[in-house]
Amino acid sequence: MSQDVYRLIGPRGNEMELPVHRGTTGPDVIDVARLYGEKGVFTYDPGFVSTGSCKSDITFIDGEEGVLMYRGYPVEQLAAKSSFIEVCYLLLRGSLPTQSELDEFETTIRRHTMLNEGMLNFFKGFRYDAHPMAQLSAVVGSMSAYYHDEMDASNPEHRDIFAHRILAKLPTIAAAAYKLNIGQPFMYPRNDLNYSENLLHMLFAVPAEPYEINEVAAEALDLLFILHADHEQNCSTSTVRMAGSSGANPYSAIAAGISALWGPAHGGANEAVLAMLREIGDVSQISKYIDKAKDKKDPFRLMGFGHRVYKNFDPRATIIREMCYKVLEALDPEDKPLFELALELEQVALKDDYFKEKNLYPNVDFYSGIIYRALGIPRSMFTVMFALGRSVGWVAHWREMISDPHGKIARPRQLYVGEGKRDYVEIGDR
Ligand code: CMC
Repeated sequence: MSQDVYRLIGPRGNEMELPVHRGTTGPDVIDVARLYGEKGVFTYDPGFVSTGSCKSDITFIDGEEGVLMYRGYPVEQLAAKSSFIEVCYLLLRGSLPTQSELDEFETTIRRHTMLNEGMLNFFKGFRYDAHPMAQLSAVVGSMSAYYHDEMDASNPEHRDIFAHRILAKLPTIAAAAYKLNIGQPFMYPRNDLNYSENLLHMLFAVPAEPYEINEVAAEALDLLFILHADHEQNCSTSTVRMAGSSGANPYSAIAAGISALWGPAHGGANEAVLAMLREIGDVSQISKYIDKAKDKKDPFRLMGFGHRVYKNFDPRATIIREMCYKVLEALDPEDKPLFELALELEQVALKDDYFKEKNLYPNVDFYSGIIYRALGIPRSMFTVMFALGRSVGWVAHWREMISDPHGKIARPRQLYVGEGKRDYVEIGDR
């Protein structure tokens, strides 16, 4: 923390010195916490574009430079050398594990993959075509009804058990939601497989015949999970922190995060990208859709483009684009035209003045859907895949928030623009 101050000069010579905090890296932060108490005014910042809501030592993003680091490690290095489970350990515990720490952690996650059998009844109650995100959020919320004996947020051991349960059981819930949609029997997890292999097994195996895991598919999924694992105070993570700040049970907080992720401006964009590519259909149509995206009267936006934080490039998009080449080579050549269309669309948009001036670059969602599609994962499951990767980030942030001895319930203020005081009018006189 530095001793710098920001001098605020208000109307009628009203002055105040606000402390300035300096993090490890990144812009300085003006501390406005005393503002209302001392001066009776709030700050106004819709969408929190200039507002830091907490201190955190988990993830750092420099949107101007296209930097993303988990616990100080650049995401490019983790993507090249690590595994999703190791990244989970890193995000949750703060440092890279030794081999024995990793083995122990991975065994714990593998041993928690089964659901309480009673939870499977939930899936029987959903309509066959219930969106898997709706199922995921509902079933995760219901976990508090099954695992309530270890939900004391002030107990570090309970917090660990909760973290392991969420990480281990989310793939099982996700796969059960998918199986319901396609009318196939639920496949129990296989604890001899790693995280991504087990997910492929639960999604695609059937009891009637053996299923062979494709190693490129498992590698691609693991990479996507690493890249989605955390992204500091994004909408769903902030939702988890906010819901959890009231002391609500952590399963409810994660369920709230899943719901927030579903929106098309957030995790739902990967689904929307594929729908958009299908709608564009052919390279000859690209300029028409670029024009639509630039037309303020047209609600169409180029999905998978633009980001609240990245104003240069999204490092995750670059890594995923490379994996696209590998996956399409190894798996399903039929999907190549869609990838080629995406590559061309990216090129045209990047050369366009509108996108250049507004610093709009492909984001993490632009290419991820193409990989999911090549793996045989349907569009409705794309955001579920995002949720699986992000689950560790949500848990890490919930733990950080709940362990903060100075933590407060999140409660923003507002600028009221409604009616002034007026008297009630009897119904017959209105
Ligand atoms: N296509 C066309 N114009 C765009 C786009 C786009 N994809 N994104 C932003 N703009 C324009 C926008 O109209 C605005 O123009 P103006 O200044 O003239 O009003 C300007 O660029 C700034 O956009 P904004 O909406 O004010 O920026 P934001 O930071 O509030 O929104 C965003 C960021 C990601 C919601 C937005 O870029 C967007 O809607 N992109 C498409 C959806 C998408 O791909 N979302 C996934 C985000 S990455 C995954 C995740 O973290 O969840």
